[in-house]
Amino acid sequence: MESIKIKKITSVWIITVLLLFVASIVLGILMRLNQGEVISQSPITFYSNMTTHGLTMIGIWFVAGMAAVNYLMQRYVKTSYTANVFALVLTVVGVVLFWASTFVGKFHAAWTFLYPLPFKDMGSETWATILFLISLTVFGIGWLIWSVSLMAQILKKYSISQSFAWQHLTKNPTVETPPFILITMVTLVGVIACLITAVVLLVLFYAEYFSGGSFVNDALLMKNLTYFFGHTIANEMLYLGLAVIYELFAEVSGRPKWKTTWYVALAWNLSLVFILTAFFHHLYMDFVQPEGLQIVGQLASYLASLPAAGVTVFSIFIAVYRTKIKWSLTNLLFFMGIAGWVIGGLGAVIDSTISNNIVLHNTLWVPAHFHTYNAMGNVLFSLGFFYWFSTQFTAYFHNKKFTNSILALLLIGGTGFLLAFYVGGAESIPRRYSTYPAELSVGVNLATIGAVFATIYLIAILMFFFNITKRCLKILSSTS
Ligand code: HEM
Repeated sequence: MESIKIKKITSVWIITVLLLFVASIVLGILMRLNQGEVISQSPITFYSNMTTHGLTMIGIWFVAGMAAVNYLMQRYVKTSYTANVFALVLTVVGVVLFWASTFVGKFHAAWTFLYPLPFKDMGSETWATILFLISLTVFGIGWLIWSVSLMAQILKKYSISQSFAWQHLTKNPTVETPPFILITMVTLVGVIACLITAVVLLVLFYAEYFSGGSFVNDALLMKNLTYFFGHTIANEMLYLGLAVIYELFAEVSGRPKWKTTWYVALAWNLSLVFILTAFFHHLYMDFVQPEGLQIVGQLASYLASLPAAGVTVFSIFIAVYRTKIKWSLTNLLFFMGIAGWVIGGLGAVIDSTISNNIVLHNTLWVPAHFHTYNAMGNVLFSLGFFYWFSTQFTAYFHNKKFTNSILALLLIGGTGFLLAFYVGGAESIPRRYSTYPAELSVGVNLATIGAVFATIYLIAILMFFFNITKRCLKILSSTS
């Protein structure tokens, strides 16, 4: 049975994530309103908001997945409460430092902080860059220790080969690895690899910063490290959400629990390799990068998404097709999230195809696809978990009206918001413009439409926020 401590800390994670999510959506809407010329922000304010929005979103949906996985992992192995609390404290401290660097110090080199941008004098305070780097270090320490601790707990019970479910690739395996453990293990390998890369990257940044000009980094190496870290963490957080779905979808639907089969084991082991090599597609325009790596980037981009998506969609399809299942807000969110994940994934594969990338590179097609599998994919996985968790320990009755209105608002708001990005991408409107020049005036109208639909999406999130926070506060004040 879950201990009271894990229930409480999971409640704190949920409230923290939802609070930061609402604030970050507001920043997103302000950006779209500025691009739509409804409001007028200075470029520095726009880019500080964009940096805050991007990194906060990536951070919160990563920790949301980790908190959910940590909670559910208790079903199989004991996890470290101290590592969980440590990660929470460092996440909150990191957010305070990071927001101070952007809101007060006006650091605005985007969440990708691509070298050498953070070192350029772009009108921010002189201390803003170092504070930003410190905030990343704080996040990195907390998250790395948390991930290593979860992996260590898995390896205390399962051998390495069992944790990757290799025995399921043979006939009649004697030990069963639950899909949740397999997917979590595959994901943690990627998470740890990209967080270690972030440490190397930060050391190189610090080395140049404190060298007084005697040490200068190699820009291509820095870009490779940055995208290995950034692309990988943004993808791995989706897989944390999928681990939750494999654990809970059947359970909340009143169906038999999903088991690891040979093809589930094979697909996730293949994903492990390809996810780590797909980031090369971020370097297509860096022509000095050896051509072979660009080809690896394209192939891995296809192969990273296909096996995991294939088996997950197949499993969900089998679970719901011509079967009477118990629908609730939780599994409806999971279902809708899988659709968003697949649609966004297709958008990503289109963009990662070299011949298309020549046209779509750095257009609004990029935020279009990654917002699809985040705002209408991974976010829904975590919201499904939040809702399920909060209704486990508080009085609950199925409120059909609440469920229908939330889903309708999310669907209408999310679709309209994303379409405005996709149409912008197809019209070759560049991404990351604070305002559009007269030649790109279609971008202005699309941005305003995007802001209106994003507001509808925000209303759904606020409904969630009040419903779930109320329940989590009750869990926090309970004694059992
Ligand atoms: C309705 C909710 C959201 C709104 C209104 C919104 C809005 C925006 C806008 C306007 C941009 C800048 C687009 C451009 O390049 O011109 C942006 C970038 C971004 N958004 Fe969102 N977004 C939302 C949800 C999310 C979610 C759920 C995530 C989760 C990961 C996310 C992550 C990002 C990232 C990583 C960037 C890139 C920032 C950068 O380029 O440095 N957003 N968003």
